[in-house]
Amino acid sequence: MGMWLALFSVALMIFGAGCAREKAPHMTVFSLKCEYLENPSGIDEVRPRLGWILESAERGQKQTAYRIIVASSEENLKKDVGDLWDTGKVTSDQSSQVVYNGKELRSRMRCYWKVCAWDRNGEMTQFSPPAFWTMGLLSASDWQGKWIGMKEAKAETSPKAKAKELPSGPPPSWLRKEFSLSKPVKMAFAYVAARGLFELHINGQKVGKDVFAPEWTDYDKRIQYRTYDITDLVKNGDNAVGAILGDGWYSGYLAWLQKRGNYGDTTSLLCQLEVEYADGSTELIVSDDTWRAAVGPILSADLLLGENYDARQEMPGWDTAGFDDSSWQPVLLLEKPAAKLVAQMSQPVQVTQYISPVAMNEPARGVYVFDLGQNIAGWARLKVKGKQGTKVTLRFAERLNPDGTIYTTNLRTARATDTYVLKGGEEELFEPRFTFHGFQYIEVTGYPGVPNKNTVAGCVVHSTTPPTGTFNYSNPLVNRLWDNITWSQRGNFISIPTDCPQRDERLGWMGDAQIFIRTATYNMDVAAFFTKWMFDVEDAQSAEGAFSDISPRFKTLKDHYAAPGWGDAGIIVPWTVYRVYGDTRIVEKHWEAMSRWMDFLLAANPDLIRRNKVGNNYGDWLSIGADTPKDLLATAYWVYDAWLMSWMAKAIGREAEAAKYEKLFTDLKAAFQKNYVQPDSYILGETQTDYLLALYMDLLPENLRTKAAEYLVENIKTKDWHLSTGFIGVRHLNPVLTEMGYSDIAYRLLNTESFPSWLYPIKNGATTIWERWDGWTAEKGFQDPGMNSFNHYSLGSVGEWLYGHVAGIDLDPELPAYKRIIIHPYPGGDLEYASATYNSIQGRISSGWARGNDIIEINFTIPANTTATVYVPAGPEALITEGDKPAEKAEGVKLLERKEKWAVFSVGSGTYRFVSKMAK
Ligand code: BGC
Repeated sequence: MGMWLALFSVALMIFGAGCAREKAPHMTVFSLKCEYLENPSGIDEVRPRLGWILESAERGQKQTAYRIIVASSEENLKKDVGDLWDTGKVTSDQSSQVVYNGKELRSRMRCYWKVCAWDRNGEMTQFSPPAFWTMGLLSASDWQGKWIGMKEAKAETSPKAKAKELPSGPPPSWLRKEFSLSKPVKMAFAYVAARGLFELHINGQKVGKDVFAPEWTDYDKRIQYRTYDITDLVKNGDNAVGAILGDGWYSGYLAWLQKRGNYGDTTSLLCQLEVEYADGSTELIVSDDTWRAAVGPILSADLLLGENYDARQEMPGWDTAGFDDSSWQPVLLLEKPAAKLVAQMSQPVQVTQYISPVAMNEPARGVYVFDLGQNIAGWARLKVKGKQGTKVTLRFAERLNPDGTIYTTNLRTARATDTYVLKGGEEELFEPRFTFHGFQYIEVTGYPGVPNKNTVAGCVVHSTTPPTGTFNYSNPLVNRLWDNITWSQRGNFISIPTDCPQRDERLGWMGDAQIFIRTATYNMDVAAFFTKWMFDVEDAQSAEGAFSDISPRFKTLKDHYAAPGWGDAGIIVPWTVYRVYGDTRIVEKHWEAMSRWMDFLLAANPDLIRRNKVGNNYGDWLSIGADTPKDLLATAYWVYDAWLMSWMAKAIGREAEAAKYEKLFTDLKAAFQKNYVQPDSYILGETQTDYLLALYMDLLPENLRTKAAEYLVENIKTKDWHLSTGFIGVRHLNPVLTEMGYSDIAYRLLNTESFPSWLYPIKNGATTIWERWDGWTAEKGFQDPGMNSFNHYSLGSVGEWLYGHVAGIDLDPELPAYKRIIIHPYPGGDLEYASATYNSIQGRISSGWARGNDIIEINFTIPANTTATVYVPAGPEALITEGDKPAEKAEGVKLLERKEKWAVFSVGSGTYRFVSKMAK
């Protein structure tokens, strides 16, 4: 095609499209969420909070009003009939945390909803695509089912079991029931809870994609149920429902205790199927004494030990109608738990990815080791064909021994071994159900023949918190660091925030969670995840008001409470959820628990120095040759708690308490200064963490801050420009350095490759964040296997600095939830560019910079209905443009002030390109 022709057709495309298409909308409304979830089924919140996202290509676009319609049927919604709630036009720019205020929500109600908005010119948008939520069972009397289980079958004992190996638990129970439906079905729902883990089946199919349902809570206090829409699974005629029940956290091994039954010994199921026929009549099928039970092909299954499966014992058709269950036994009726039944209102755990091995080796005859190239949490899928009775064994490890065999010593007593016995015939596929491992390497033995890279795949398993962040940088090692942080989040957000996924631990350590939560919020939408976990935290609080160090708690684990930096998560987690998502409800819900913690601290430490005579104190856990005084660290956290409490009190309108905590903050700060700060502003202990806490938590008199920052830098210098911080200090290291004017040093630490540093593990093959700076070193090899995980996110808390300071996307200190965004990148290091994107609760934010000779370019986008304060690096003489205009003349840009190193602008929504040229 000639050039003219080409140009002509382009013109046709442009003009033609312009004529034919309707005018592009100024703003669109989408991504509707109810309680942070997309179309959730079975919630039990009667005043759910609704939110949506607004998008516009225009600058300065915003919502001036909204209308929400909630209808009891899809038809009504289509006709704009809000028979449950119609807000009418509400003048407001609020687009999240809008509390439902319509007709009373009752059990089982289905709520269909949509939203439209009015933009800054008063023009109405189109309605959003429709969304829905359904209500679960709100009162105890809604549950007609009984708790059923089975008489414990004998545990399998392997004749070859080594004496010191932990004995396996009994095989999981398989429960079933047939039922018939006499008429065409309009809809059907299953409500299911378990003590243990359940997998629900209907008519030959697993229901939903969830694994480990109903997940981990303190089962003595709270048991979650899940709601599934099973309309498409049931049919008019004969049906069957079945469930497999595994030990899980309820009755399997937990942590290092080498003990089963930490909440109870017998697993049980509560199941209720509710069918509505097309004619409006209903049918109820519940768990009761008419169900039958058996053991099947799973010989044993334990989260820590692994799963043993004998395919010869499969029971084809067990979950379909017409199966002969005459050899099955009647179920046991178990007593109803005292614990509350609550809906699971966080994203379920699922398999999110399958990873093929990058290599296969045979370090010893018949021992095949597959490398996934990535350390993950989950399990392996095995493909195998061979003779009946052949037993294939899978073992898992994060690292290899020098001879290429797998290194499992750091798993402690977690056996992490799955076995599969073939039924023979066609190719067989195996994936376990009730276990998970933390691993990069899979060892296969007993394989019939020679396997290849298709023999196994790594199944990545975690809570399906939606990814929200990306990060890109001109140093590939730092990009790998970001990847590692994200992978450690994936590997450890499994129902609750855990410390590690591989050894016999995997607990909800609160220090780890609070240190990492801010990074976690950038990587993924963790609002619902932490909302759920805060109930575990509150359930774990002692009668005296002490928060535990580990949540959920279990009664067999004693004496882990009140540790500074760990217990304080009870304050810091709600605070962070409030800041990032504008969530005041989490603050209100836990206000009493937080107040009790504050009272506990005061009662235990009347002289305002937190000496932790009761409870634990881990100090700056795993620091490198730098012992921050423990009572200093403890007191610092207490001052910080008081400060956060005063802010949170204000946020929920508790003015008197705000004043009370402000006063406590002032008093504690004075006590801190008196005890720990010398007049020349040296701080007792003189560790990096000392200065970081003092600066971050505002513990110093204003006039000593600069000096303290100098000491911090001096300290780093004496360590030959290395960090020495542990879990607690590391989070604040780069943010504090940057904000105190030392971003060059923060970048220097970031780019350091020698020990100890973030990049040292990466140079040594890390694909996740290690628990210890020296998990493996060239000189010493592996650290003490007694505590050496290669997948622990805590030291990855630098993630928040990558997003917040390097790429420059942050929260406004005054306003929560990215309503006013701070775009403040700190171009630095030897790097030429950095960028990040973040899907905030207001919509997608991106920010990036690139640097050339005497020129810095900042590109960013902020969503409709937000504004941003933008810091452009610029000396007093620098010339700043936005687009092709002097910045202060550009559309929607207002110069706020010129500081020594920055020009500060305010902008409305839209995409901007600022260029700062140093004048010669
Ligand atoms: C865990 C940590 C935890 C610590 C408390 C360790 O065993 O793995 O992540 O925070 O104990 O000291």
